[in-house]
Amino acid sequence: MNREITKNIYAIGALDWDRRLFDELIPLPDGTTYNSYIIKGNDKTALIDTVDPTKTDELLKNLAECGVRNLEFVVAHHAEQDHSGSIPAILKAYPKAKVVTNPKCKEMLKELLLIPEEKFITVNDRETLSLGDKTLEFIYAPWVHWPETMVTYLREDKVLFSCDFFGSHLAASSLYIVDEAKTLESAKRYYAEIMMPFRVSIKQNMEKLKGLEIKTIAPSHGPIYQKPELIVNAYKDWISDKVKNEVVIPFVSMHGSTRVMVDQLINALMKKGITVKPFNLTGVDIGELAMALVDAATIVIGTPTVLVGPHPSAAYAAFLANALRPKTKFASIIGSFGWGGKAVEAIAGLLPALKVEILEPVMIKGYPKETDLAALDRLAELIYNKHRGMGLGD
Ligand code: FEO
Repeated sequence: MNREITKNIYAIGALDWDRRLFDELIPLPDGTTYNSYIIKGNDKTALIDTVDPTKTDELLKNLAECGVRNLEFVVAHHAEQDHSGSIPAILKAYPKAKVVTNPKCKEMLKELLLIPEEKFITVNDRETLSLGDKTLEFIYAPWVHWPETMVTYLREDKVLFSCDFFGSHLAASSLYIVDEAKTLESAKRYYAEIMMPFRVSIKQNMEKLKGLEIKTIAPSHGPIYQKPELIVNAYKDWISDKVKNEVVIPFVSMHGSTRVMVDQLINALMKKGITVKPFNLTGVDIGELAMALVDAATIVIGTPTVLVGPHPSAAYAAFLANALRPKTKFASIIGSFGWGGKAVEAIAGLLPALKVEILEPVMIKGYPKETDLAALDRLAELIYNKHRGMGLGD
Protein backbone atom coordinates (compact mmCIF):
# COMPACT_ATOMS: atom_id res chain seq x y z
CA MET A 1 0.00 0.00 0.00
CA ASN A 2 1.16 3.55 -0.62
CA ARG A 3 -0.29 6.52 1.22
CA GLU A 4 0.21 10.18 0.45
CA ILE A 5 1.56 12.22 3.37
CA THR A 6 1.54 15.49 1.51
CA LYS A 7 1.79 16.37 -2.16
CA ASN A 8 4.28 14.05 -3.86
CA ILE A 9 5.46 12.44 -0.64
CA TYR A 10 4.25 8.91 0.00
CA ALA A 11 4.65 6.35 2.74
CA ILE A 12 5.36 3.06 1.00
CA GLY A 13 6.84 0.92 3.78
CA ALA A 14 5.64 -2.34 5.27
CA LEU A 15 3.70 -3.33 8.35
CA ASP A 16 4.96 -6.35 10.27
CA TRP A 17 1.99 -7.18 12.49
CA ASP A 18 3.28 -10.58 13.56
CA ARG A 19 6.89 -9.96 14.44
CA ARG A 20 7.40 -10.63 18.13
CA LEU A 21 11.17 -10.34 18.56
CA PHE A 22 13.81 -7.97 17.25
CA ASP A 23 17.51 -8.88 17.21
CA GLU A 24 16.32 -12.19 18.69
CA LEU A 25 16.23 -10.25 21.95
CA ILE A 26 13.75 -7.38 22.10
CA PRO A 27 10.07 -8.28 22.57
CA LEU A 28 7.70 -6.59 20.11
CA PRO A 29 4.26 -6.85 21.75
CA ASP A 30 2.73 -4.63 19.06
CA GLY A 31 4.72 -5.79 16.03
CA THR A 32 6.56 -3.10 14.10
CA THR A 33 6.73 -1.23 10.81
CA TYR A 34 9.60 -0.57 8.41
CA ASN A 35 8.84 2.87 7.07
CA SER A 36 10.02 3.82 3.65
CA TYR A 37 9.07 7.01 1.82
CA ILE A 38 9.02 8.23 -1.75
CA ILE A 39 9.66 11.87 -2.53
CA LYS A 40 8.81 12.90 -6.07
CA GLY A 41 10.47 16.12 -7.15
CA ASN A 42 9.58 17.66 -10.48
CA ASP A 43 13.00 16.58 -11.73
CA LYS A 44 14.06 13.53 -9.73
CA THR A 45 12.68 10.95 -7.32
CA ALA A 46 14.21 9.70 -4.08
CA LEU A 47 13.39 6.72 -1.92
CA ILE A 48 14.04 7.30 1.77
CA ASP A 49 15.23 4.06 3.32
CA THR A 50 13.97 0.60 2.38
CA VAL A 51 12.47 -2.19 4.48
CA ASP A 52 13.45 -5.39 6.21
CA PRO A 53 14.51 -8.02 3.65
CA THR A 54 11.50 -10.15 4.61
CA LYS A 55 9.27 -7.40 3.17
CA THR A 56 11.16 -6.62 -0.04
CA ASP A 57 8.42 -7.86 -2.36
CA GLU A 58 5.93 -5.60 -0.62
CA LEU A 59 8.19 -2.57 -1.09
CA LEU A 60 8.67 -3.32 -4.80
CA LYS A 61 4.92 -3.69 -5.21
CA ASN A 62 4.30 -0.39 -3.40
CA LEU A 63 6.83 1.39 -5.60
CA ALA A 64 5.08 0.12 -8.72
CA GLU A 65 1.67 1.10 -7.34
CA CYS A 66 3.06 4.53 -6.55
CA GLY A 67 3.95 4.90 -10.22
CA VAL A 68 7.69 5.03 -9.69
CA ARG A 69 9.26 4.11 -13.01
CA ASN A 70 12.47 6.09 -12.64
CA LEU A 71 14.27 6.22 -9.36
CA GLU A 72 17.42 8.32 -9.12
CA PHE A 73 18.26 8.11 -5.41
CA VAL A 74 17.94 5.70 -2.52
CA VAL A 75 18.76 7.60 0.66
CA ALA A 76 20.25 5.21 3.21
CA HIS A 77 20.10 6.76 6.66
CA HIS A 78 21.35 3.73 8.51
CA ALA A 79 23.03 0.48 7.58
CA GLU A 80 21.01 -1.78 9.88
CA GLN A 81 19.22 -4.33 7.76
CA ASP A 82 15.66 -3.54 8.81
CA HIS A 83 16.07 -0.37 6.71
CA SER A 84 18.86 -1.22 4.32
CA GLY A 85 18.15 -4.88 3.67
CA SER A 86 16.10 -4.29 0.53
CA ILE A 87 18.59 -1.90 -1.12
CA PRO A 88 20.19 -4.61 -3.31
CA ALA A 89 16.76 -5.59 -4.66
CA ILE A 90 15.89 -1.94 -5.31
CA LEU A 91 19.15 -1.42 -7.20
CA LYS A 92 18.34 -4.46 -9.29
CA ALA A 93 14.84 -3.19 -10.06
CA TYR A 94 16.06 0.36 -10.70
CA PRO A 95 19.58 -0.04 -12.13
CA LYS A 96 20.15 3.69 -12.56
CA ALA A 97 19.49 4.48 -8.90
CA LYS A 98 22.36 5.54 -6.65
CA VAL A 99 22.59 5.04 -2.91
CA VAL A 100 22.97 8.40 -1.17
CA THR A 101 24.60 8.15 2.20
CA ASN A 102 27.55 9.28 4.31
CA PRO A 103 31.02 7.71 4.00
CA LYS A 104 30.72 5.69 7.21
CA CYS A 105 27.36 4.23 6.23
CA LYS A 106 28.69 3.49 2.74
CA GLU A 107 31.49 1.36 4.16
CA MET A 108 29.04 -0.50 6.38
CA LEU A 109 26.64 -1.12 3.50
CA LYS A 110 29.50 -2.47 1.40
CA GLU A 111 30.39 -4.87 4.20
CA LEU A 112 26.87 -5.89 5.20
CA LEU A 113 25.11 -6.02 1.84
CA LEU A 114 27.99 -6.30 -0.64
CA ILE A 115 26.82 -3.22 -2.56
CA PRO A 116 29.57 -2.19 -5.01
CA GLU A 117 31.43 1.11 -4.61
CA GLU A 118 30.14 2.60 -7.89
CA LYS A 119 26.57 2.52 -6.65
CA PHE A 120 27.16 5.19 -4.02
CA ILE A 121 27.00 8.96 -3.81
CA THR A 122 28.36 10.18 -0.47
CA VAL A 123 27.19 13.33 1.22
CA ASN A 124 28.62 15.50 3.95
CA ASP A 125 26.86 16.71 7.05
CA ARG A 126 24.35 19.44 6.05
CA GLU A 127 24.86 18.82 2.36
CA THR A 128 21.79 19.22 0.16
CA LEU A 129 20.46 17.34 -2.83
CA SER A 130 17.92 18.83 -5.21
CA LEU A 131 15.06 16.82 -6.69
CA GLY A 132 13.92 19.89 -8.60
CA ASP A 133 11.27 21.58 -6.53
CA LYS A 134 12.20 19.64 -3.41
CA THR A 135 15.47 19.87 -1.48
CA LEU A 136 16.85 17.21 0.80
CA GLU A 137 19.21 18.30 3.55
CA PHE A 138 21.24 15.53 5.15
CA ILE A 139 22.09 15.85 8.82
CA TYR A 140 24.48 13.45 10.50
CA ALA A 141 23.02 12.05 13.71
CA PRO A 142 25.69 9.67 14.97
CA TRP A 143 24.86 7.16 17.68
CA VAL A 144 21.12 7.13 17.40
CA HIS A 145 21.85 4.28 17.67
CA TRP A 146 24.68 3.32 15.29
CA PRO A 147 27.69 5.50 14.49
CA GLU A 148 26.74 6.08 10.85
CA THR A 149 23.14 7.23 11.28
CA MET A 150 21.89 10.38 9.56
CA VAL A 151 18.50 12.00 9.07
CA THR A 152 17.00 14.00 6.19
CA TYR A 153 15.15 17.29 6.35
CA LEU A 154 12.88 18.06 3.43
CA ARG A 155 13.12 21.84 3.37
CA GLU A 156 10.08 22.85 1.33
CA ASP A 157 7.64 20.60 3.22
CA LYS A 158 9.39 20.84 6.61
CA VAL A 159 9.38 17.10 7.08
CA LEU A 160 12.09 15.44 9.14
CA PHE A 161 12.78 11.84 8.10
CA SER A 162 14.34 10.80 11.35
CA CYS A 163 15.23 7.13 10.79
CA ASP A 164 15.26 5.22 14.12
CA PHE A 165 15.37 8.53 16.04
CA PHE A 166 11.91 9.12 17.60
CA GLY A 167 10.69 5.74 16.29
CA SER A 168 8.47 3.16 17.93
CA HIS A 169 7.83 -0.52 17.38
CA LEU A 170 4.11 -0.17 16.82
CA ALA A 171 2.17 -1.66 13.93
CA ALA A 172 -1.08 0.28 13.40
CA SER A 173 -3.39 0.70 10.46
CA SER A 174 -3.29 4.47 10.71
CA LEU A 175 -0.27 6.22 9.26
CA TYR A 176 -0.59 8.89 11.92
CA ILE A 177 -0.99 8.76 15.67
CA VAL A 178 -4.46 7.82 16.82
CA ASP A 179 -3.70 7.10 20.46
CA GLU A 180 -1.03 9.43 21.82
CA ALA A 181 -0.58 7.56 25.10
CA LYS A 182 -0.11 4.23 23.34
CA THR A 183 2.36 5.72 20.88
CA LEU A 184 4.37 7.36 23.64
CA GLU A 185 4.49 4.09 25.54
CA SER A 186 5.80 2.30 22.44
CA ALA A 187 8.27 5.11 21.78
CA LYS A 188 9.48 4.96 25.38
CA ARG A 189 9.96 1.21 25.13
CA TYR A 190 11.90 1.78 21.90
CA TYR A 191 14.01 4.51 23.49
CA ALA A 192 14.71 2.34 26.54
CA GLU A 193 15.78 -0.71 24.57
CA ILE A 194 17.71 0.93 21.78
CA MET A 195 18.52 4.58 22.39
CA MET A 196 19.09 4.89 26.15
CA PRO A 197 22.77 3.84 26.08
CA PHE A 198 23.40 6.82 23.78
CA ARG A 199 21.66 9.46 25.89
CA VAL A 200 24.56 11.90 25.64
CA SER A 201 24.80 11.61 21.84
CA ILE A 202 21.04 12.00 21.57
CA LYS A 203 21.26 15.24 23.55
CA GLN A 204 23.82 16.54 21.07
CA ASN A 205 21.72 15.48 18.11
CA MET A 206 18.60 17.09 19.58
CA GLU A 207 20.60 20.33 19.84
CA LYS A 208 21.57 19.97 16.20
CA LEU A 209 17.92 19.72 15.12
CA LYS A 210 16.87 22.73 17.19
CA GLY A 211 17.22 25.26 14.39
CA LEU A 212 14.90 23.41 12.02
CA GLU A 213 11.25 24.29 11.60
CA ILE A 214 9.67 20.83 11.68
CA LYS A 215 6.02 20.28 10.81
CA THR A 216 6.12 16.50 10.54
CA ILE A 217 8.43 13.80 11.88
CA ALA A 218 8.44 10.68 9.76
CA PRO A 219 10.49 8.02 11.56
CA SER A 220 11.51 4.66 10.19
CA HIS A 221 9.39 2.71 12.70
CA GLY A 222 5.88 3.42 13.93
CA PRO A 223 3.38 6.20 13.28
CA ILE A 224 4.19 9.62 11.83
CA TYR A 225 4.11 12.60 14.18
CA GLN A 226 2.03 15.54 12.96
CA LYS A 227 2.65 17.21 16.29
CA PRO A 228 6.44 16.87 16.58
CA GLU A 229 6.49 18.45 20.03
CA LEU A 230 4.79 15.33 21.41
CA ILE A 231 7.81 13.12 20.84
CA VAL A 232 10.43 15.86 21.10
CA ASN A 233 9.21 16.80 24.59
CA ALA A 234 9.07 13.15 25.64
CA TYR A 235 12.67 12.67 24.48
CA LYS A 236 13.72 15.81 26.36
CA ASP A 237 12.34 14.26 29.54
CA TRP A 238 13.90 10.82 28.94
CA ILE A 239 17.37 12.16 28.12
CA SER A 240 17.41 14.73 30.91
CA ASP A 241 19.49 14.06 34.02
CA LYS A 242 16.37 14.12 36.18
CA VAL A 243 15.42 10.86 37.88
CA LYS A 244 12.13 9.99 39.56
CA ASN A 245 11.30 8.82 43.06
CA GLU A 246 11.20 5.22 41.84
CA VAL A 247 12.89 1.95 42.70
CA VAL A 248 13.13 -0.85 40.16
CA ILE A 249 13.53 -4.33 41.64
CA PRO A 250 14.40 -7.11 39.17
CA PHE A 251 14.47 -10.30 41.17
CA VAL A 252 14.27 -14.05 41.08
CA SER A 253 13.60 -16.45 43.92
CA MET A 254 14.07 -20.22 43.96
CA HIS A 255 12.64 -21.34 47.30
CA GLY A 256 10.92 -18.19 48.50
CA SER A 257 13.54 -16.51 50.72
CA THR A 258 14.46 -13.80 48.23
CA ARG A 259 10.77 -13.31 47.44
CA VAL A 260 10.01 -12.61 51.13
CA MET A 261 12.89 -10.13 51.19
CA VAL A 262 11.65 -8.40 48.06
CA ASP A 263 8.14 -8.14 49.50
CA GLN A 264 9.52 -6.64 52.72
CA LEU A 265 11.48 -4.06 50.76
CA ILE A 266 8.54 -3.25 48.49
CA ASN A 267 6.27 -2.61 51.49
CA ALA A 268 8.86 -0.54 53.33
CA LEU A 269 9.46 1.62 50.25
CA MET A 270 5.75 2.01 49.56
CA LYS A 271 5.18 3.20 53.13
CA LYS A 272 7.64 5.96 52.40
CA GLY A 273 5.75 7.07 49.31
CA ILE A 274 8.28 5.69 46.85
CA THR A 275 7.04 4.17 43.60
CA VAL A 276 8.22 0.58 43.35
CA LYS A 277 8.43 -1.46 40.15
CA PRO A 278 9.25 -5.10 40.87
CA PHE A 279 10.00 -7.49 38.01
CA ASN A 280 9.97 -11.20 38.63
CA LEU A 281 12.64 -12.26 36.18
CA THR A 282 10.93 -15.58 35.55
CA GLY A 283 9.11 -14.75 32.35
CA VAL A 284 9.77 -11.00 32.43
CA ASP A 285 9.29 -8.82 29.34
CA ILE A 286 12.69 -7.14 29.26
CA GLY A 287 11.17 -4.19 27.41
CA GLU A 288 9.04 -3.42 30.47
CA LEU A 289 12.12 -3.64 32.68
CA ALA A 290 14.08 -1.38 30.32
CA MET A 291 11.25 1.18 30.32
CA ALA A 292 11.19 1.26 34.12
CA LEU A 293 14.92 1.97 34.10
CA VAL A 294 14.47 5.15 32.02
CA ASP A 295 13.42 7.21 35.04
CA ALA A 296 14.17 5.30 38.26
CA ALA A 297 16.57 6.76 40.80
CA THR A 298 17.42 3.34 42.23
CA ILE A 299 17.74 -0.27 41.14
CA VAL A 300 17.81 -3.14 43.63
CA ILE A 301 18.61 -6.59 42.25
CA GLY A 302 17.26 -9.57 44.18
CA THR A 303 18.99 -12.90 43.79
CA PRO A 304 19.36 -16.24 45.49
CA THR A 305 22.73 -17.96 45.40
CA VAL A 306 23.33 -20.60 42.74
CA LEU A 307 26.60 -22.48 42.54
CA VAL A 308 28.27 -19.84 44.74
CA GLY A 309 27.19 -16.96 42.45
CA PRO A 310 24.04 -15.06 41.54
CA HIS A 311 21.11 -16.73 39.83
CA PRO A 312 21.76 -16.50 36.05
CA SER A 313 18.50 -14.57 35.58
CA ALA A 314 19.66 -11.94 38.07
CA ALA A 315 23.04 -11.80 36.34
CA TYR A 316 21.22 -11.30 33.03
CA ALA A 317 19.22 -8.39 34.49
CA ALA A 318 22.40 -6.80 35.84
CA PHE A 319 24.17 -7.29 32.50
CA LEU A 320 21.21 -5.76 30.68
CA ALA A 321 20.97 -2.76 33.02
CA ASN A 322 24.69 -2.19 32.61
CA ALA A 323 24.39 -2.33 28.81
CA LEU A 324 21.40 0.05 28.74
CA ARG A 325 23.23 2.58 30.95
CA PRO A 326 20.19 4.26 32.52
CA LYS A 327 20.62 7.47 34.53
CA THR A 328 19.99 5.53 37.77
CA LYS A 329 21.86 7.01 40.74
CA PHE A 330 21.80 4.24 43.36
CA ALA A 331 22.00 0.45 43.30
CA SER A 332 21.84 -2.35 45.81
CA ILE A 333 21.63 -6.11 45.96
CA ILE A 334 19.52 -8.27 48.20
CA GLY A 335 19.18 -12.02 48.45
CA SER A 336 19.81 -15.23 50.24
CA PHE A 337 22.45 -17.95 50.39
CA GLY A 338 22.57 -21.43 51.86
CA TRP A 339 26.17 -21.82 52.94
CA GLY A 340 28.16 -19.03 51.31
CA GLY A 341 28.90 -17.50 47.96
CA LYS A 342 29.86 -14.39 46.11
CA ALA A 343 26.60 -13.26 44.55
CA VAL A 344 27.02 -9.63 45.68
CA GLU A 345 30.52 -9.29 44.28
CA ALA A 346 29.48 -10.94 41.01
CA ILE A 347 26.43 -8.69 40.52
CA ALA A 348 28.34 -5.53 41.49
CA GLY A 349 31.05 -6.55 39.03
CA LEU A 350 28.48 -6.65 36.25
CA LEU A 351 27.58 -2.98 36.69
CA PRO A 352 30.75 -1.04 35.76
CA ALA A 353 28.98 1.23 33.25
CA LEU A 354 26.40 2.42 35.76
CA LYS A 355 27.47 5.59 37.52
CA VAL A 356 25.75 4.55 40.72
CA GLU A 357 26.46 4.67 44.41
CA ILE A 358 26.18 1.12 45.73
CA LEU A 359 24.07 1.05 48.87
CA GLU A 360 24.95 -1.57 51.50
CA PRO A 361 23.60 -4.90 50.18
CA VAL A 362 21.49 -7.22 52.30
CA MET A 363 22.56 -10.85 51.79
CA ILE A 364 21.21 -13.24 54.37
CA LYS A 365 21.58 -16.88 55.28
CA GLY A 366 18.52 -19.04 54.59
CA TYR A 367 15.01 -17.81 55.26
CA PRO A 368 14.65 -14.18 56.43
CA LYS A 369 14.53 -13.67 60.20
CA GLU A 370 13.43 -10.59 62.12
CA THR A 371 16.92 -9.10 62.02
CA ASP A 372 17.04 -9.62 58.24
CA LEU A 373 13.69 -7.94 57.72
CA ALA A 374 14.91 -5.06 59.87
CA ALA A 375 17.98 -4.77 57.63
CA LEU A 376 15.68 -4.43 54.62
CA ASP A 377 13.72 -1.72 56.42
CA ARG A 378 17.00 0.08 56.99
CA LEU A 379 17.83 -0.25 53.27
CA ALA A 380 14.44 1.30 52.46
CA GLU A 381 15.20 4.12 54.91
CA LEU A 382 18.58 4.68 53.28
CA ILE A 383 17.01 4.78 49.80
CA TYR A 384 14.39 7.22 51.06
CA ASN A 385 17.07 9.50 52.50
CA LYS A 386 19.18 9.29 49.35
CA HIS A 387 16.17 10.19 47.22
CA ARG A 388 15.26 13.06 49.53
CA GLY A 389 18.86 14.26 49.31
CA MET A 390 18.26 14.62 45.57
CA GLY A 391 15.05 16.55 46.10
CA LEU A 392 12.81 13.56 45.32
CA GLY A 393 9.67 12.74 47.29
CA ASP A 394 8.01 14.92 49.91
FE1 FEO B 1 15.44 0.21 12.88
FE2 FEO B 1 18.58 0.52 13.89
O1 FEO B 1 17.29 -0.09 12.81
